[in-house]
Amino acid sequence: MNGDILDIRGLGKKYPGVEALKEVSLTIRGDSVHCVVGENGAGKSTFIKILTRAEERTGGTILFKGREFRPRSIREAMNLGISTLFQELNVVDQLTVEQNLLLGREDTLLGVIRRPDRNRRLYQILKDFAPDIPLHRRVGELSFAEKQVIEIVKAVAAEASLLIMDEPTAALSQKEAGRLFELIRGLKQQHITVIYISHILDDIFAIGDYVTVFRDGAIIGTARVADIDRPALIRMMIGKTVAEGYVPRKVDRQEVGLEVEGLCTAKLREVSFRLHRGEILGFYGLRGAGKSEIAQALYGLDKILAGSIRLGGRPVRFAIPRDGLRRGVSLVPEERLAEGLILKLPLRPNVSISNPGKISRLGVVNGRRERAAVERYVRELSIKVTGIEQRAGTLSGGNQQKVVIAKCLNADATVLLMDEPSRGIDVGAKEEIHGLIRDLAAQGAGVIIFSSEYQEILNLCDRILLVADGRIIKELSNSEASAEELLHAVTQTKRLKP
Ligand SMILES: Nc1ncnc2c1ncn2[C@@H]1O[C@H](COP(=O)(O)OP(=O)(O)OP(=O)(O)O)[C@@H](O)[C@H]1O
Ligand SMILES: [Mg+2]
Repeated sequence: MNGDILDIRGLGKKYPGVEALKEVSLTIRGDSVHCVVGENGAGKSTFIKILTRAEERTGGTILFKGREFRPRSIREAMNLGISTLFQELNVVDQLTVEQNLLLGREDTLLGVIRRPDRNRRLYQILKDFAPDIPLHRRVGELSFAEKQVIEIVKAVAAEASLLIMDEPTAALSQKEAGRLFELIRGLKQQHITVIYISHILDDIFAIGDYVTVFRDGAIIGTARVADIDRPALIRMMIGKTVAEGYVPRKVDRQEVGLEVEGLCTAKLREVSFRLHRGEILGFYGLRGAGKSEIAQALYGLDKILAGSIRLGGRPVRFAIPRDGLRRGVSLVPEERLAEGLILKLPLRPNVSISNPGKISRLGVVNGRRERAAVERYVRELSIKVTGIEQRAGTLSGGNQQKVVIAKCLNADATVLLMDEPSRGIDVGAKEEIHGLIRDLAAQGAGVIIFSSEYQEILNLCDRILLVADGRIIKELSNSEASAEELLHAVTQTKRLKP
């Protein structure tokens, strides 16, 4: 469509204690990819939720294709031509892939019959985008990334004239993100407009036409992507530049914290490595390579078929995570919201639960100590909250992630496992988290970072192990490693597979 597809005037949203959107005005040009960026808690998801009527606005007007737009439900917004991929996954674990894809499609609006050719299109998109996901598989058995792929397919296949995506590539590998970008370029040709939210700034430069920066519920500015570079965009986002890069560290290779020998699970084949005290070790590989499986096995969440794990020289086998915690191993899981948070509870117990001994004596909790400990993490990780009694479920996506990280840091572990630690976290906060990880290591903890983001691995890790196909295929020191090297090594192995 030529001209503006969306004209938003004075859009506002107040939650108790927070003005999440402050009279936001924005126009979106038809046939463009319009990116939205900003710090965690800036108001991006709220903006989307109001556009699609997942939440009610407090004020303002929206014109969609020149007409006043006031849907009463997400379904109605969808029928009017706006399809949305929300930041939180909305798949139903109990249903199969196919059932999830068709969910909600049977319905009709005002008696208009559903079009079978639309379903055909759905299958085609799935086949092109993710040929390796079987239709009959129960979604609960899929990985986080595969679930995200299903949501993408569903949103794209809806054939809306405006497609909104809130962090679609968070869990995707480089290659899959590339496929998504191709898909989006194709949509543009078919006159579909896309609003795209992401913390991965490379995404914006790969597919964006325009970029709008949110800060504290307001719009800081909009630029053409062609006219702006990465440092300028970061400055707009957080008001300062950040130093991204590896800080060389001295690691004493004498003391071994964790020693893993010939570890085998259903997915892993003879994984062996050593983690020294004070070391930050990185596991890099594409999605599905087996990184999360290594984290899970070390933490006692997966059945170990063979091999041994030694912690501080003593053999261990973790049957349940509490075993790990008691022995000083802590995990930041990949699926944080499902595995790491109690959404109904305030932030305070969500953090302090990981280390009851720290805040209680003889079983009695010292409230003051507890509050002080939690407030320290709120400050250090710049968690955006009205206070430590705010319910975890009402925090922005990135801030929920930070709470899980705070919880794991609070455990005072000697071995810290972090699966995709900065997924969904803004550039500024990411550097702060990296700083905290470096501090922990400097105090003697061993840290393992599992990441499919090569930049994060290169910025943070002293030593890097490359993972493909459930095994370690190569070891590099930070000085030997480069982005090309990492990508080359892990994709090479993929290609060798039949
Ligand atoms: N249901 C709610 N109740 C109270 N406050 C809320 C609720 N939902 C969101 N907020 C607040 O609104 C603000 C904006 O949140 P929003 O989710 O829009 O941020 P975001 O820009 O999407 O951040 P992220 O990058 O972390 O996803 C935050 O301060 C958040 O705590
Ligand atoms: Mg969000």
